[in-house]
Amino acid sequence: MLTSSLLRLFLTRSLSPFTFEASSPGWRPDMTGLDPIGLYVHIPFCRTLCSFCPYCREQYTAEKAAAYLPALLQEIDQTGRAVSRHLDDSDGAVTFEERPVTSLYFGGGTPALMLDDLPVIIGRLQRYFRITDGIGIELHPQDITPENLQQLKRSGVTMVSLGLQSFDQEALARIGRCEDRFTERLGWVREAGFAVIDIDLIFAIPGQTPESLRRDITLAFKLGATQVSTYPFIDFTFADNRYKPLGKKAKRQLLDELANFCRELGLMRTSVWTFAKPGTAKYSSVTRDAFLGFGLSATTLLQRSFSINTFSLDGYIGRLEKDQSPTALKLTFSLRQRAAYFLFWGAYGLCIDSQRFAAMIGQPLDRLYRWEMALAVWLGFLNRSGDDYILTSRAIRVYHDLEQLYTTAYIDKTWSVARQEAFPRRFTLS
Ligand SMILES: C[S@@+](CC[C@H](N)C(=O)[O-])C[C@H]1O[C@@H](n2cnc3c(N)ncnc32)[C@H](O)[C@@H]1O
Ligand code: SF4
Repeated sequence: MLTSSLLRLFLTRSLSPFTFEASSPGWRPDMTGLDPIGLYVHIPFCRTLCSFCPYCREQYTAEKAAAYLPALLQEIDQTGRAVSRHLDDSDGAVTFEERPVTSLYFGGGTPALMLDDLPVIIGRLQRYFRITDGIGIELHPQDITPENLQQLKRSGVTMVSLGLQSFDQEALARIGRCEDRFTERLGWVREAGFAVIDIDLIFAIPGQTPESLRRDITLAFKLGATQVSTYPFIDFTFADNRYKPLGKKAKRQLLDELANFCRELGLMRTSVWTFAKPGTAKYSSVTRDAFLGFGLSATTLLQRSFSINTFSLDGYIGRLEKDQSPTALKLTFSLRQRAAYFLFWGAYGLCIDSQRFAAMIGQPLDRLYRWEMALAVWLGFLNRSGDDYILTSRAIRVYHDLEQLYTTAYIDKTWSVARQEAFPRRFTLS
């Protein structure tokens, strides 16, 4: 708590905490000056609910999914009409000038449980947006079948993220998963030919060793990954983990081992927790400067605000049936808060890009953070590269600790509040 408050004070030069207010049902996002941004769609349904998983998810039933689809389409229309310019056709029909967006990511939950609906959802988004850099989707291992992969290709999906978590049967058993023909399934993924294949691995599960993690990384790339995301196992307060993650020191050591091993393999470190084959594109759903989110629990990050949709399925559908916004909570940033938020996520991607900072914040980085940047360079946390700043390995180690702190101090608390009440009134993150 003290560390997160000190960091906030250092970057925002203010003691005021981040305060979320209840969002009004009439709220619509304002995308002025924000082209191009990313799109994210949340599909919350899962076949079974994993004990370790903190995400907003719902036990799948065909009835719930059928009720969710029209609400999701309604939200797309609501936002699309607010952010894209109307064009009147000669026959009186209203069409929209498609706004360029970089990418569209489907996350969950298990988005493949609504595979047949993807073309409708994508088509609806394309009424308002032109997607320039591809479509990504998260897949649970069970979703990886030749038929599903072909269907995804036909729907225009170009990037997949596979939640394998590990190739090691014992590690998987400790988080309630099992090895289910991973080698064969990855063969089908390779054959299908996606531009980006991300494999999610979790490290610091009890029993995992540097050797077992090296095996995981080797297999992931040998079997076709273009990127591997290695997430430290986090024990969320509302999770139900039978086995608790390894301690802070062990986590740090394992990440160091992983990073050294990936360097030996000639891989690029593309963020604190991702490694990729050189020359391949990144799978990066919401770690971007700005994005619009659709669906249950989806978040939207704009120039001066961060908002969160309700976590309640009934609340979500109910609001959209009345053409009201399903956004539950909204944080309006001060200039320095937004700048701090930019720096935090920029640092996750290992580079603080001065041009992108100025475009988003409206002020040059070296004017707003002159002495902070100089101090970070002097302390050996950043290296200057032209106008940008690159994180050193020392800074990456510190960031790894900070990100976990942020997850428990901010994400865990926010999601706990959002899980308890469909439309909470107000709360602060100190
Ligand atoms: C939305 S989740 C899972 C997507 C898909 N439904 C699946 O199960 O494969 C995305 C990723 O978050 C990571 N993750 C989930 N819970 C985690 C936890 N408690 N600690 C660390 N990583 C976690 C996992 O690697 C997971 O693949
Ligand atoms: S890890 Fe994936 S399948 Fe398991 S509950 Fe979370 S989103 Fe659902």
